[in-house]
Amino acid sequence: MCGIIGITSTKPVSSSIINSLKKLEYRGYDSAGIATLLDGKINEVKCEGRVKALETNISKIKMLGTVGIGHVRWATHGVPSTLNAHPHSSESVSVVHNGIIENSTLLKKFLVEKGHKFKSQTDTEVIVHLITEYLKENDLKNSILKMLKKLHGSFALGIIFKDQPDLIVGARRGSPLAVGYGPNENYLGSDSYALKSMTNKITYLDDGEFCILKKNSVEFFDDTGKKVNKSVLELSNEEGDYDKGDYKHFMAKEIEEQPITIKNCINEYIDKINNDINLLNFPWKQNEISSIVLIGCGTAYHSCLMAKHWFEQLTDLDISVDIASEFRYRKNKFKSESLYIFVSQSGETADTYAALDLCNKNKMKTCSVVNVVESSIARDSKFVLPIHCGPEIGVASTKAFLGQMLVLYLFSIKIAFVRGSIDKDKYQTKIKSLLSLADLVKNTLDTDNQIQSACNSFVDAKGSMFLGRGSSFPIALEGALKLKELAYIHAEGYPAGEMKHGPLALIEDGMPVVVIAPRDYYYNKTISNMQEVIARGAKVLLITNKSTDEIFSENIWQKIEVENTDDDLLPFLITIPLQKLAYHSALKKGYDIDKPRNLAKSVTVE
Ligand code: M6R
Repeated sequence: MCGIIGITSTKPVSSSIINSLKKLEYRGYDSAGIATLLDGKINEVKCEGRVKALETNISKIKMLGTVGIGHVRWATHGVPSTLNAHPHSSESVSVVHNGIIENSTLLKKFLVEKGHKFKSQTDTEVIVHLITEYLKENDLKNSILKMLKKLHGSFALGIIFKDQPDLIVGARRGSPLAVGYGPNENYLGSDSYALKSMTNKITYLDDGEFCILKKNSVEFFDDTGKKVNKSVLELSNEEGDYDKGDYKHFMAKEIEEQPITIKNCINEYIDKINNDINLLNFPWKQNEISSIVLIGCGTAYHSCLMAKHWFEQLTDLDISVDIASEFRYRKNKFKSESLYIFVSQSGETADTYAALDLCNKNKMKTCSVVNVVESSIARDSKFVLPIHCGPEIGVASTKAFLGQMLVLYLFSIKIAFVRGSIDKDKYQTKIKSLLSLADLVKNTLDTDNQIQSACNSFVDAKGSMFLGRGSSFPIALEGALKLKELAYIHAEGYPAGEMKHGPLALIEDGMPVVVIAPRDYYYNKTISNMQEVIARGAKVLLITNKSTDEIFSENIWQKIEVENTDDDLLPFLITIPLQKLAYHSALKKGYDIDKPRNLAKSVTVE
């Protein structure tokens, strides 16, 4: 993962680098560092921990260099430590790297034999020594080309040189990299968001390209060293909402703003006058598609599972779902009448991007459901369905999950109608129900008190289970993922009907189990499964929807009832108490809610 930044200017760059690094912290936050160049000398400051700590360290010294690079790290090779923090430097160059060098062990052997001494445990350091080695007999451009040819794996690089007073080299393969243009200064960054406070003029490097930035010029080259012309994109000046406001955590804010993000998204897609869903410029005719493959990671994968349920209920299409890291290495049977949908909040997840790339290379129909519309996944998909959620900063995905489900649901009912699988009446009734979704979500946010009391049992538990059937199974997986990720409590999401095939053995006296049983087609079956875990001592927190019908079960420990609505929309409401359960459990344990241990917001390594 990791985030990189580079600035070449006429003025000192360290404070702008720090500001950009703060924006890149979503990519990694176990250590941070910066290197600037002044009077032929590279100065480095690095530390374990957050950018804030780096900022404090830098404030104690004067870093006056006018060219510099910075890095936030998510450790892959070597523990998080000051020593392993980037930049890594030799007597002649300093390098920041996002990605993984897969042949670093072999390269290190070759370099050690040539007398190079390594200081860190990172894979990145081989890059430093390779360039240093090639610079002995080659000019800068040829040294870069030779070094790039040696590397296997994925990388975005920023490199400064002791003998080049205003120059930065950027290079990418697999990992994203953007160049930004300013007055008498130019920038390099892992994404345009990191550069946004300095410029809205951006060029994205394509795979295999490298660039040479000076304060007054930028040149791009392909992997053979041939110059390439690239266009400059002008991004909107709109700054998203990156402020916590009065909330203690971004996650709390992002949970609470879900009614607004749902409303925004609905306004973008639903034509209220004609009671219709707009999928403007959808490039394929309905008879060109006979199956859909949905691909994502983590929470995005769960929204794919949810979409499978809706597409299967509403359409005649064949639907399959895959985890991106599995799909990319599977022997896939690509079919021209398949539509491949890639779901990703960040649009930068390495595995999801690789799966998309594979489909593009096989000339498939590719569509993405993303939050960040300037991301690599959005840029390289043939059709994009944005979720219109605004920036999601908390590492745990909340409002983006609801946004992904919403867009996929809108898409499924539109496709169902266009294909004639549902009639106009059903189509428009579903749209009408959607118009009240934001208010229903808002009402569900009031479950705080109940959730807070339930938390104690989860916080003290050895483990927990989340059970559901049908559309509640993906929600069970999502609830369990949130609890693991934030409160570090072992939690398993399971299809309720599958318990007796093994996991029932885990149930013991007092174990907290969340049972998701809305009064849908699966209700009676799930209630029976709930009985089975209660009989074995589980403390069941039942989440269902309001009804006048009694629940035929005794000894339910706690019950949360969400509002009644179209069955298809219940997963949106049921997700809310699960988000809160994870949030309050983590709060009780005193954990870093917005930046859980070992994780990063955007997973840019495979
Ligand atoms: O940016 P993406 O949606 O592609 O990210 C995918 C997962 O890494 C992400 O959803 C992750 O599982 C979340 N941290 C879960 O809350």
